[in-house]
Amino acid sequence: MDAPVPELSTRAARCAERLRAADDLLLASHIDADGLTSAGIASAALERAGIGHDVVFEKQLDRAAVERYAAADYDTVFFTDFGSGQLDVITEYAAFTPVIADHHQPADAETAYHLNPLLEGLDGGSELSGAGASYCVARALEGNGDDEDNRDLAALAVVGAVGDMQVVEGELIGANAEIVAEGVEAGVLDASKGLAMFGTQTRPLPKLFAYASDVPIPGITGDRNGALRFLDGIDAELREDGEWKTWADLDTAERQTVVSALVQRAVRTGVAADEIEALIGTTYTLLGEERGSELRDASEFSTLLNATARYDRAAVGLAVCRGERGAPLDAARDLLREHRRTLATGVGVVREVGVERESHVQWFHAGDRLPETVVGIVAGMAMGEDGVAAGVPIIAFAEKEDDGDDEPGVKVSMRGTPRLVERGLDLSAVAAEAAAAVGGDGGGHEVAAGATVPAGQESGFVAAADAVVGEQLDP
Ligand code: C5P
Ligand code: C5P
Ligand code: ZN
Repeated sequence: MDAPVPELSTRAARCAERLRAADDLLLASHIDADGLTSAGIASAALERAGIGHDVVFEKQLDRAAVERYAAADYDTVFFTDFGSGQLDVITEYAAFTPVIADHHQPADAETAYHLNPLLEGLDGGSELSGAGASYCVARALEGNGDDEDNRDLAALAVVGAVGDMQVVEGELIGANAEIVAEGVEAGVLDASKGLAMFGTQTRPLPKLFAYASDVPIPGITGDRNGALRFLDGIDAELREDGEWKTWADLDTAERQTVVSALVQRAVRTGVAADEIEALIGTTYTLLGEERGSELRDASEFSTLLNATARYDRAAVGLAVCRGERGAPLDAARDLLREHRRTLATGVGVVREVGVERESHVQWFHAGDRLPETVVGIVAGMAMGEDGVAAGVPIIAFAEKEDDGDDEPGVKVSMRGTPRLVERGLDLSAVAAEAAAAVGGDGGGHEVAAGATVPAGQESGFVAAADAVVGEQLDP
């Protein structure tokens, strides 16, 4: 059997072997797009291999969760998209054998069944997601049927990587790219250069162009009438029966016409050359999904999933990942509308509560006005908006919901930029050190991290984080 990521094949085989030996298996995963696709991949592969299992999702894998698993009758727990960072806690419990497919910074402890790109010198923030790690195990598991090599699951792995924002300069790289290649070969994925804007499958063209904000184009971005005038001036059939088409409706020639008009406009209005380049990126299309469905575009699919699991509806997202359509997909679409409303008001909330500047970081406290599960997404979106500096790491606080099992505390989300990471920023270290300084717990990636801290420790956290970021950026 050839492995998608050769560096990880030994670890994948060991994990697969242990999963096959499980009698009572629990699959535990994280509640974001990457965690859901991780669970979708793992669950499909386990089922195909005839391995029964339960599935559970967590906002954070904390001691209380691990204790619950230990108290139940599972002999094996398969952790996906988390687990590495909590290995110190997990290994305290002998009641079950842990199997881990993760890409977060590992804690100082080890287990025999542990797949993580960081253990083999691969980057867990840009080269392999949790879903990619799960895919490696899925490929090692294989099904009982002849055609079940699980390569079709590469499509979900790509949704996870895109959802985790692992795209680098417009495309997936490293091990992620190897998985893309398997998906293309299996006929489930298309990867082509295209317009790097969100909503190419579902948004009518004026909305697509007016809403795209990654590369702002004067007179089009944030200006619906401007976008309409721009499109009306293009010599191509962009409407059908009076209705605006979507990007997905256009043929290759029409797309080229629109892109060159867009580039001309950008040049004419003085958009920088590297920004113009960023208008084009690789689009990952799930060929098994209907045209015009958000599931057909990896980026739109991942947003749909975030709209379920981050609002306590992980089962809906998992069902969609497992290929169920109808009721779960309808429910996911309703949740997506709610999610969009939350995000749209979120940036306004940031403005209202106000962003404070420290020497090296900026921060805001959303209190109970944003769910703890999306405050990080909002923090990332707010960077560069009115009153929020663009090139300064941002720290966001939100009150945690009382889940009933321990002190609710305060959720912290942090976001940086690739450029800051190049200069030495490592938010996972910041989260871990600053949280430890105030009696909390944290981790994550260089560019995005999070923590839980006791209520009232926010300013202590900010001070500690400011100091650590200062050391990282000007040592
Ligand atoms: O736990 P996990 O690794 O799946 O979560 C990563 C999180 O980091 C995602 O919510 C993703 O949106 C966020 N992220 C970000 N900006 C980046 C990279 C990741 O906001 N450049
Ligand atoms: O929740 P948020 O999207 O801000 O999480 C950003 C990253 O930080 C994710 O990769 C998440 O797994 C990680 N994180 C963590 N420990 C926490 C909270 C978040 O490792 N307590
Ligand atoms: Zn992840």
